[in-house]
Amino acid sequence: MTNVYAVRVHQLGGPERLRYEQVEVGEPRRGEARIRHTAIGLNFTDIHFRTGRYPLPSLPHVIGMEAAGVIESVGDGVTAFQPGDRVAYAAATPGAYAQATVMPVTRLIKLPDFIDDEAAASTILKGLTAQYLIRSAYTIRRGETILVQAAAGGVGLIICQWARHLGVRVIGTVSTPEKAALASANGCDEPILYTREDVAERVRGLTAGAGLPVVYDGVGGSTYETSLQCLKRRGLAVFYGSAGGVIPPFDLWRLNRMGSLYVTYAGLADYLHEPAEMNERAADLFLMMRSGIVKVPIHKRYRLADAAQAHADLEGRRTTGASVLIP
Ligand SMILES: NC(=O)c1ccc[n+]([C@@H]2O[C@H](COP(=O)([O-])OP(=O)(O)OC[C@H]3O[C@@H](n4cnc5c(N)ncnc54)[C@H](OP(=O)(O)O)[C@@H]3O)[C@@H](O)[C@H]2O)c1
Repeated sequence: MTNVYAVRVHQLGGPERLRYEQVEVGEPRRGEARIRHTAIGLNFTDIHFRTGRYPLPSLPHVIGMEAAGVIESVGDGVTAFQPGDRVAYAAATPGAYAQATVMPVTRLIKLPDFIDDEAAASTILKGLTAQYLIRSAYTIRRGETILVQAAAGGVGLIICQWARHLGVRVIGTVSTPEKAALASANGCDEPILYTREDVAERVRGLTAGAGLPVVYDGVGGSTYETSLQCLKRRGLAVFYGSAGGVIPPFDLWRLNRMGSLYVTYAGLADYLHEPAEMNERAADLFLMMRSGIVKVPIHKRYRLADAAQAHADLEGRRTTGASVLIP
């Protein structure tokens, strides 16, 4: 057993519920590795776990889904990884807000030399999400026009960069002119200030009334209706998050009346289920990072001890791109 500092939730609630304290980290068991973290990714998903929107396995519990670091030790039966390997992960269960953790090696991704630890910690989870959203949940194709809600956010910016590279025209929603400028600089052709403009009307104008084949929406509650309205006949709404609240139940018959629309609510875990699939997606992402096509600007570096401030900033819509916690 080793004592390390970590950020735990004892009671669900606001950022003030996060406690920076010592916890015990055990030795890796069969099929596991212990990783000393060097950088930890900040994700809106962490807020969902803190508030109880997503269930924690128990309380108190360390939160955090994404980190990079170095393997310290491995358990029995582990041959593909060894101490000293640089790795990163998008975890299946929360636990990344800590100086070290133990986890199954099936979730670990070896880092190539050209990706530094901060880039890995800020891009693995968000980048793999963008990858499955644009390659699998719906496969975007050259010449298409798509809508990305919260285009200046963590996942949003990567979709913009990657989609532009694939020859796709990106319409993106943002809340401020500063975020519009950032989205534009990262591949968003048509930023729309959704706090001021009628998004569905703008999309109709930009598509000669046709609407879109796909919308990527990680905001949810405050945007889902508009997302549906922006689709063309038989278009697909890919919901994947709820930064703007929960999508309420609605009558499926409406999808018929709106043009036989399709809807999915996608989750990363279902697109990384098998290690082989995860590594294939990671290789695709690394190719994009190597060529500089996917390059996530780090908005801010916080000390792990200041995780509550990081949460307040992310929740307060004050962040862009990605931020990292340094343990
Ligand atoms: N299903 C999956 O596989 C998967 C994977 C990763 C993330 N997610 C989810 O995707 C969502 C986005 O994650 P992210 O880490 O990339 O976050 P993010 O986009 O960096 O941050 C959320 C953004 O949403 C916008 N927003 C709109 N209404 C908001 C509100 N009421 N409060 C706060 N923000 C609001 C803000 O942008 P503006 O100021 O421009 O509006 C804000 O910056 C989260 O719900 C996350 O859990 C899902």
